[in-house]
Amino acid sequence: MYYPEELVEEIRLKNDIVDVISGYVKLQKKGSSYFGLCPFHNEKSPSFSVSRQKQMYYCFGCGAGGNVFTFLMEYENYSFAEAVKVLADRAGVELPEGDYSKEAKERADLKMTLLEINKLAAKYFYAQLKSEHGKAAYTYLKNRELSDETITGFGLGYSNKYSNDLYRYLKAKGYKDDILVKAGLITIDEKHGAYDKFWNRVMFPIMDANNRVIGFGGRVMGDGKPKYLNSPETPVFDKSRNLYGLHRARRSRKPYFLICEGYMDVIALHQAGFTNAVASLGTALTSGHASLIKRYVDEVYLTYDSDDAGTRAALRAVPILKEAGITARVIRMDPYKDPDEFIKNLGAEAFAERIGKARNGFMFGLEMLERDYDLSTPEGKTAFLREAAKRLSEFEDEIERSNYIEAVAKAYRVDKDELRKLVVKTAIQKGLAKPAGRPITTVQKEKTKEDGHLKSQRILLTWMIEDAYIFGQIQKIIDVNDFTEPLYRTVAELLYGQYEKDALNPAQILNHFTDEEEHRRVAELFHTKIKELSTAKEQEKALNETVLRVKKHSIDEQTRNLDPADIAGLQKLMADRRALQNPDKLHISIN
Ligand code: GTP
Ligand code: MN
Repeated sequence: MYYPEELVEEIRLKNDIVDVISGYVKLQKKGSSYFGLCPFHNEKSPSFSVSRQKQMYYCFGCGAGGNVFTFLMEYENYSFAEAVKVLADRAGVELPEGDYSKEAKERADLKMTLLEINKLAAKYFYAQLKSEHGKAAYTYLKNRELSDETITGFGLGYSNKYSNDLYRYLKAKGYKDDILVKAGLITIDEKHGAYDKFWNRVMFPIMDANNRVIGFGGRVMGDGKPKYLNSPETPVFDKSRNLYGLHRARRSRKPYFLICEGYMDVIALHQAGFTNAVASLGTALTSGHASLIKRYVDEVYLTYDSDDAGTRAALRAVPILKEAGITARVIRMDPYKDPDEFIKNLGAEAFAERIGKARNGFMFGLEMLERDYDLSTPEGKTAFLREAAKRLSEFEDEIERSNYIEAVAKAYRVDKDELRKLVVKTAIQKGLAKPAGRPITTVQKEKTKEDGHLKSQRILLTWMIEDAYIFGQIQKIIDVNDFTEPLYRTVAELLYGQYEKDALNPAQILNHFTDEEEHRRVAELFHTKIKELSTAKEQEKALNETVLRVKKHSIDEQTRNLDPADIAGLQKLMADRRALQNPDKLHISIN
């Protein structure tokens, strides 16, 4: 804890969650809660709810949830300390200038200043584009068939030919050299003094999901090198966690994103009505991008350049996306280079047709593999199918594997049972050749089982905070130590403490977790998705099963960790186990 706990709690209590979130999301009162369109994923009807009574928010669509600090951390990308600082300011609460808080305050201040500077610079570039100096740049954009509406919508601009006019402009606004350097807009060297990083370029401001300018890309008008110059990474510009166009795509209300390579591709696609297009910022797609995307959609269409580099980039992106739980399809742009040129030549309708014909990532991979074989000869086709079988054998999920076997059999006109045999054979051969392959699957199985136990513990905690009566019932059977995961146990300890004082308050518990990762995990903990069960009877049954499952797992774990010399401990565990045989005694009724 960096700030005293009472202080953090005071700040939380002075910032009513409905008021704070209303500043970002339009909320409407329905019953005891407020509802609005979720800012964390695309949706048409409101499933984002905020409870004034609990001082928590939760989205029934995407599962985002937490207290007022969580909200700012998620929405503004703040750390916990930054969220505390901002809300302290909002409520007029003075923060102590302790070592850490000073550092956190400075960091938050720095970020805010950098965002201010970027915003000013974007406005400056835009004004240049619209001025006499910007004529050539404006013509350049017009020649690339961008409408005025598009230019304004993306805030495009121009950095003119003077080598330090932005520097002078920002200095006149009162910013010091060192902060301008930190913003990545100015370079200072001893010989030449201060000069602008971007010079005589068309400027593309890069926005984060919340419309704040975090950096820039600048393109030469013509064939100069480098073609694009990008802002360096700064405290507000993390290339692997932002996507160009995301601020618009997230509002597109489509269930998938189009991912392309270039800024111009994104802009051309949006102009043609494909408002769900985004691009990574001149880098390959990372798992950071994938988890960002996963907040909004479960499916993407990769529309990379049709050259070899683009193809390879698409093939590399597919598994990264899959890892994050995103289905990837690939759209081909041939005979054109990229989406921008495709649309210019064939129009939006033809592009929509390509979307319809997109190949799923796996099939696309096979299509690329085809190029290495001569499928017109029996030897070539056999060798190709062997390689395909090898890839098919790598699907862990049996249903998925089976579906793909069918798809491949159909696409390459082979008998699906024969192909299935080949896949099994390949899997066995691999297993023999590589004995390490098998233990991995058992490890995997154990992992899934463990995940199941943890989920049961999460469900219990979610249930308990929903209803103090149920809490009372459950705590007679489940004690704090039955939560086997250390983080859950800590949460349970705090909750049980509150329950004893008759003051259940999960929103307050979140204050304890200042590490961002932990904070998020605990926020999730209070909102575990519980299957919709219509009747009270069904709910009761599910609850009882969960309680028994958690208790049994806890006993198993304790048995496993028991000191063999601990006879009393053993006897207690045996008694506990016997009690499990008699579920009537353990039965919980929910009303
Ligand atoms: P146009 O030629 O204007 O149509 O560009 P594009 O949008 O088609 O981009 P391209 O496919 O050439 O490149 C894709 C992305 O890679 C760009 O949007 C940039 O982010 C990045 N990029 C391209 N060229 C350079 C370069 O010379 N330097 C750097 N740092 N990044 C580049
Ligand atoms: Mn292009």
